[in-house]
Amino acid sequence: MQLPFAESFKIKMVETIQKSTCQEREQWIKEAKYNLFNLKSEQVFVDLLTDSGTGAMSDKQWSELMLGDESYAGASSYYKMKKAINDILGFPYFLPTHQGRAAENVLFSVLVKEGMIVPGNSHFDTTKGHIEFRKAKAIDCTIDAAFDTNQRHDFKGNVDLEKLEKVLTSYPLEKIPMIIMTITNNSAGGQPVSMQNLREVHELSRKYGVRVVFDSARFAENAYFIKQREAGYADKSIKAIVKEMFSYADAMTMSSKKDAIVNMGGFIGFKDEDLFKQASVFGIIFEGFVTYGGMSGRDMNALAQGLDEGTEFDTLDSRIQQTAYLGNQLKKFGVPMQEPFGGHAIFVDVKRFLPHIPKEEFPAQTLAIELYLEAGVRAVEIGAILADRDPVTRENRYPDLELIRLAIPRRTYTNNHMEYVAVALGNVFERRNEIKRGVKILKEAPIMRHFTVELERL
Ligand code: F0G
Repeated sequence: MQLPFAESFKIKMVETIQKSTCQEREQWIKEAKYNLFNLKSEQVFVDLLTDSGTGAMSDKQWSELMLGDESYAGASSYYKMKKAINDILGFPYFLPTHQGRAAENVLFSVLVKEGMIVPGNSHFDTTKGHIEFRKAKAIDCTIDAAFDTNQRHDFKGNVDLEKLEKVLTSYPLEKIPMIIMTITNNSAGGQPVSMQNLREVHELSRKYGVRVVFDSARFAENAYFIKQREAGYADKSIKAIVKEMFSYADAMTMSSKKDAIVNMGGFIGFKDEDLFKQASVFGIIFEGFVTYGGMSGRDMNALAQGLDEGTEFDTLDSRIQQTAYLGNQLKKFGVPMQEPFGGHAIFVDVKRFLPHIPKEEFPAQTLAIELYLEAGVRAVEIGAILADRDPVTRENRYPDLELIRLAIPRRTYTNNHMEYVAVALGNVFERRNEIKRGVKILKEAPIMRHFTVELERL
């Protein structure tokens, strides 16, 4: 008999989580103005809001905390992180930042000016936010297959090269400061980008003389999918695949809260010393001196260790098999999802789950509320509320995909928790026709409204 899958770690410390009653949850979600970001964590039983900063560090990472050097300048922790970034990712220059969006802020302060165009594959919301905040425009060139949750495609994160070339030939090149490749493509469902696509985008970028920046939050998961799915990579190590991936980038931004498995941290990697120097000026203003940039020494140590562990096959295999486990359980209930399953999360296709709720009533948010009420499970809306309004017309943008995301923290929950979540959502799916109406917005912020939006149930 073939041995079943088992995680390649055991548990050394545990944290208690709390169950609640349906009546309590009714009350709490009402007080939270039907915005799941407003819930207190103890009001949540299984928290799948995000996989960002919510993972469990290893014993080796915790040991590294004790070795942190908190010197303001020239700390050994900085050099440890520098070595890890150079050895594992291949970037000789780097700037630490407190998280991923801070890396975007620092880098884009050099590169992005009013009226510019930034093509890429489904820019993450903070990335788009930093571009639009500077009165520039993000153009999504993701392949069409990404927007059809039924269509089987191994690399739904890919850029459509024709769409990209059209952008590169439609605007003056000095208006295009970079192409952004998000690996994995979070907004399209945690979908990977193939090595071939990264290589071809790089070739196009050389043809037109535009730099390529990788938004690398889940680069290691991307490498795992390349190993599993792309011809010629099955026998290569994750670290070798990662090296080749980054050989096609000029710079990278990183939210270390994902694949470097730390609770806080980020950085920018550069191959070009001149760009690094220009960015250092903004790094110092926004984040801190170049050798700590918003991070404490102990956290830089844990990050360096996390980069090493996070690019080990067994770590990734445990993680991505757990995501697939949740997906397969949900499939048994007939829940419609983005397939193939992504790396960090299961994305539920709400247009197919609640087809009778009109888009103006925010069906994905409606479903996230129902799932919370059912079982105290917190998911996140990746739909029209997150997509926000057009910066010019201020009209709601209704994206092609209306999803809820069940993001799985690394090394945190067991498969029993996954089973619990699957049954909870399965129950909601069974009573989906009793959900008659959605929600209405009462109050919203001018930008990035999803964090603070206040809602009312219709
Ligand atoms: N890029 C991607 C692809 C991301 O998923 C995120 C964060 C960021 C950049 C920004 O990084 O949070 O460290 O500032 N994603 C989180 C999520 C918030 O839940 O997907 P950050």
